[in-house]
Amino acid sequence: MSVVITRDKQFNLLPGETLLEGLERTGHDVEYQCRSGYCGMCRLELMDGEVSYASPPLAFVGPNEILPCCCELNGAVAVDCHLRADLDSQGELFPTDLFDLQATSKA
Ligand code: FES
Repeated sequence: MSVVITRDKQFNLLPGETLLEGLERTGHDVEYQCRSGYCGMCRLELMDGEVSYASPPLAFVGPNEILPCCCELNGAVAVDCHLRADLDSQGELFPTDLFDLQATSKA
């Protein structure tokens, strides 16, 4: 189980899950098209750690960049990725307090 650290969150990748799927599951803002290393849309900056590829991806990958759709993590990684703008730092759609009527009516 590999640890993934982003700009907003830390989580564990599930068995068999790609980094792209893990980022999606945890509410991160990721782009993609092919999901198999051809288009380069999912490209992210790797801030720390190492990844490898079962076969070299066809999309261009610059220095310190990775393709989360098809890379394999070689241990913990840190990537330059943020949560979706509509999610708070806990990965929830709205802060819990928004639904606390007592707290809301005092404001
Ligand atoms: S989604 Fe196309 S290379 Fe990752």
